This record gives sequence, C-alpha cells and structure tokens, in this order.
Amino acid sequence: MPGKLTGSSPTTTAKMKCGAVIVAAGRGERLKNTTPKAFIPLRSKPLCQYSLDAFLSYPKITDIVLVIPEEKLSSFSDPKFKVVAGGASRQESVFKGLSALECDTAWVFVHDAARPLLTADLLDRLWESAKNGKNCIAAWPISDTVKLAQNTTIAKTLDRQNLWGAQTPQVFLTSVLKEAYAKAKKDNFTGTDEASLVERLGASVELVVGDPWNLKITTPQDLKLAELILENKL
Ligand code: C5P
Repeated sequence: MPGKLTGSSPTTTAKMKCGAVIVAAGRGERLKNTTPKAFIPLRSKPLCQYSLDAFLSYPKITDIVLVIPEEKLSSFSDPKFKVVAGGASRQESVFKGLSALECDTAWVFVHDAARPLLTADLLDRLWESAKNGKNCIAAWPISDTVKLAQNTTIAKTLDRQNLWGAQTPQVFLTSVLKEAYAKAKKDNFTGTDEASLVERLGASVELVVGDPWNLKITTPQDLKLAELILENKL
C-alpha cells in the first residue's frame, strides 16, 4: 500500500534518516518588493533564515536542501546545508530539492520558507506521526465560513466542520513523495501542496494539528503581523 511504512521496528526507525526541503525560490509578487520574498528582511534577518534555523536545530533532520532563485546561488555557501536553484513553479522547486536529497533519506519534511514562524513543537508533533509510518501535514481548522464561488456569485457553502487549512511542514516517506511527483508529471497535474500529489496515489495523509502562529507571509500586512509576533507584541 503506498504511503505505509511496513516491517520496521522502532530501532530501524530510529536509524532512518530524515531530510528537509525548504522552498524559497518564489518571487512573492504580492509583497510588492523587488527582493525575492524569502530574502526580505524580517527583523533584519532574511525570511528564509528562520526556517533554516528551525531545521538546523532539529536533531532528527540530518540533510537540508534550500531551494532559492538562481541569481541568489552565489550568496549562500554553508557546509550545514545544500543550496539548489528553484524552478518556474513551487512544484518544480520542490522536485529540484527532492532530487538533491541524499538517496538514503527515508523521510522528507517539505516546508515553505514563506512560513518563518514554525516551531520545534510543531516539528515534534509531525515527527510523532511520521515515525509511525504516516504521511502527514500540519493543518489548522478553518474558522471562516467558506463559499465556493462562480465568478462573484456563491455556488455553494462548504461544511466548515470538515475544513482545514493546509500548512507546511508536510512530511512524507521520500519514496512515496517521489512516486507522487512522478505520477503528477505523467498526468500533467499541478497542485499547490505535496499532500494533493500524494492523495492522487491513493495513499492516506494525516492532519496534524498545526499552529495558528505558523502564518504564511503573502502580503505586506502578513510581514507586519510576523514582526509583531516576534516582538511579543501580540
Ligand atoms: O507562491 P507561494 O506563496 O504559494 O509559495 C510558497 C513557497 O514556495 C514560498 O516559500 C516560495 O518561495 C516557494 N516557491 C518556490 N519556487 C517557485 C514558487 C514558489 O520555491 N517557483
């Protein structure tokens, strides 16, 4: 069955390697800034450095790939992680990161550098689920009532009780995620997260309670909010 880790004892699991792919190659046009989003300073530190620091200090993860715009390649050189150039879409960037992981990496955490406020607690919750053989994603229940629209008219109101907003990190068995990427390529399918690709394999993906502070920086307002959170003003 795809997505299930079978026949592994706790000892084998402990020895298996975990990698992380941090995608930071987007332009971030909605931020209205000429600097690529992941390099915009947040309290004088580039946005992508927050995610890097979180993964670098998480001991379970031994192989980190940072995916950045090609023109930024010369600005990063650090023996603690690899740096590769991204692609035209987020999906292509993740694929490039996956291809740069060491081949014995059993699990991979995929994370958007646009979410700089991830915590070790969230990584722990995800790893608890992943080490039991589950593909899983961080997610948070939706509090708004969500409308499906046809242009600007409501076509349907969705049942909020069953709606979750997907966050990153998302954690998968590397072999499963690679299979999902191969299938998406074959079917010419583009998704906005990894789970949507893995779901298409028929593999189950667990929702792990994420973190309301794990916000995604998209607009200048999000950047301001992240600043306030880091300054403990919220
Ligand atoms: O565009 P969006 O905000 O959904 O991007 C989510 C993440 O994917 C961001 O961290 C962004 O840097 C990354 N991305 C990428 N390569 C692209 C587009 C987006 O690495 N071509």
